[in-house]
Amino acid sequence: MSRQEEQFERIKTRVHTDSGEAARIVAAEIAELIERKAGSGDQAVLGLATGSTPLPVYRELVRLHREEGLSFGNVVTFNLDEYYGLPPDHPQSYHQYMWRHLFGQVDIPKEQVHIPSGMVDRAEVFDYCADYERKIERAGGLDYQILGIGRTGHIGFNVPGSTSDSKTRLIRLDSLTRRDAARDFLGAANVPRYAITRGVGTIRKATRIVLMAWGQAKVEVLRQAVEEQPTENLPASLLQGRPDVRFFVDQAASEALTRFRIPWLVGPVSWTVPTIRSAVLWLSRAVKKPILKLQDSDYNENGLGDLLTEVGAAYDLNIKVFNQTQHTITGWPGGKPNADDSNRPERAKPFPKRVVVFAAEPDEDVLCMGGTIHRLNNQGSEVTLAYFTSGNLAVPDGMARQILSLMNELEQELNLKGADGVSLGQVAGVILKKLQAKSPQEDDSADIRQVKSLVRRNEARDASRNLKMAPDRLRFLDLPFYESGGYRNFQPTEKDEKIVVELLREIEPHQIYVSGGSADPGSLSGLCFQLFRKALQAVGGETWLEECYLWSYRGIGQEWPLNAIDMAVPLSPDELALKIEASFQYRSQRSQFPLRHSGHKEIWQQTDDINRSTAEAYNDVGMAEYEAIEGFKRLQPADLF
Ligand code: F6R
Repeated sequence: MSRQEEQFERIKTRVHTDSGEAARIVAAEIAELIERKAGSGDQAVLGLATGSTPLPVYRELVRLHREEGLSFGNVVTFNLDEYYGLPPDHPQSYHQYMWRHLFGQVDIPKEQVHIPSGMVDRAEVFDYCADYERKIERAGGLDYQILGIGRTGHIGFNVPGSTSDSKTRLIRLDSLTRRDAARDFLGAANVPRYAITRGVGTIRKATRIVLMAWGQAKVEVLRQAVEEQPTENLPASLLQGRPDVRFFVDQAASEALTRFRIPWLVGPVSWTVPTIRSAVLWLSRAVKKPILKLQDSDYNENGLGDLLTEVGAAYDLNIKVFNQTQHTITGWPGGKPNADDSNRPERAKPFPKRVVVFAAEPDEDVLCMGGTIHRLNNQGSEVTLAYFTSGNLAVPDGMARQILSLMNELEQELNLKGADGVSLGQVAGVILKKLQAKSPQEDDSADIRQVKSLVRRNEARDASRNLKMAPDRLRFLDLPFYESGGYRNFQPTEKDEKIVVELLREIEPHQIYVSGGSADPGSLSGLCFQLFRKALQAVGGETWLEECYLWSYRGIGQEWPLNAIDMAVPLSPDELALKIEASFQYRSQRSQFPLRHSGHKEIWQQTDDINRSTAEAYNDVGMAEYEAIEGFKRLQPADLF
């Protein structure tokens, strides 16, 4: 990578094909440090983080310990943070996390591990924090600090507003950070409001700092941290200006960096069909002119003179890209029967098509492509909605409680008696008691999880009914990895893969819709995509797959940019309203926070905004004006092998 390409970047950023590759390099650096220090009889002092991001690094360190004899005997660690109020044995405490994923699996002496305590008396917090800092200093300072980045740009729990010289302290968590943690805690209401965190100033003192970011969800915050002026509103940007700071990111997280988004502003570009399309679409929006009105001068004055030299005058180029973009639009996502399909994103034949829409959990499908599902179904395709997981971990206790008490009371009201002595109301009563006895943070028992799965199944059925789908078109795969796991703790196996393979072989679809390809591979949607990928490899070479089109859709807030869309499905105002009504059915997924003053939106509002803004983007570049658009990118099965 030449310095020229990095000219917009204020922090050295290494982009790797995937998080596994980057994590192996980071782990190798840490191992090298540990061994070098051991060689000179010194301790290696590590600053450690929690969350999804460092998991692949910890996995690799554990492997190096087990398979290559890396010893942690001379390692001293200082964790960044801990939730305030959580005892160390709480399942969601960072103490548990660290022992589960790293310390418990290597030979580090217990007394060399330091994690802030969440149980310090309020009156003693200040002294406790100052002492934590002194301990780091006494250990000789941090040799190597690893970091993740939150969607607010936080590092550790340094929320926006943290100053660059801030120290270890008690901090009140912001609402987005608490929302992001809601899943870990089985409901937003259970997420602690406070945490103890090392300060930005303390982090900045480490000799080497490595921040990692994986997946699409981090794309915008990463760009701001790397390319914009440092600001306390985005604490990760305060790492700028420190000499030995490096960011390790995967391709998905790096997408918005200038060198990838608008490479023609950075240096010479080797022009290909996709880069030409990106450049023209970008120019059209940058100068606020529809494609067909772009002039040679627009290209020349906006860093695209090279493109004209290579491909000719603006006039022909405009027409080419206009047509390409126009041809992505179709009202017939399943292909239009008996129509010329030479310029359509989908083939006319076969018709009707067998279609499988995969979703990590119920709601993802409808929120991201409800309008397209409605069209496919309405136009005669045989659509199956397949849910990898039940999504029961994301159902609040209160909702299960409501249903169980309703069943229980209904029996009493109607004076029902079960035929074989045990009635449904009694069963509900037993589960209800368990639910009431459970502390909010405790894991759900299998029967409570089952009740919560049913909540989501029913919501999915209601939503699909809104889209005029028959209830028997829904397939709840309830993959075992999810039912026996928890967030950050899922371990998919061949059993899960087999279930997906069986579904594919049973249906032999002509079209598959799937999401999660650019998500953090540690997240639920990332894990589901990896499983899908393995299943696809297992059926590779089967005839039906050669004729199958794969369409990728993206999660809420991470929609495909205009230049990446290969199929744009316009929604009429009525169709958008239908989709929003369907999204409303996911009552269990509504925000648990009062949103009025927080600036956040409910998911149905977010989906509405996204579909409207994609339509606006099409309109801005000179396409017809639609109410809303859902966008898809075509994947080649071979790219996934
Ligand atoms: C936790 C920490 C946090 C996380 C951040 C990203 O110790 O330092 O700043 O790194 O919240 O979380 P994940 O990795 O789960 O996306």
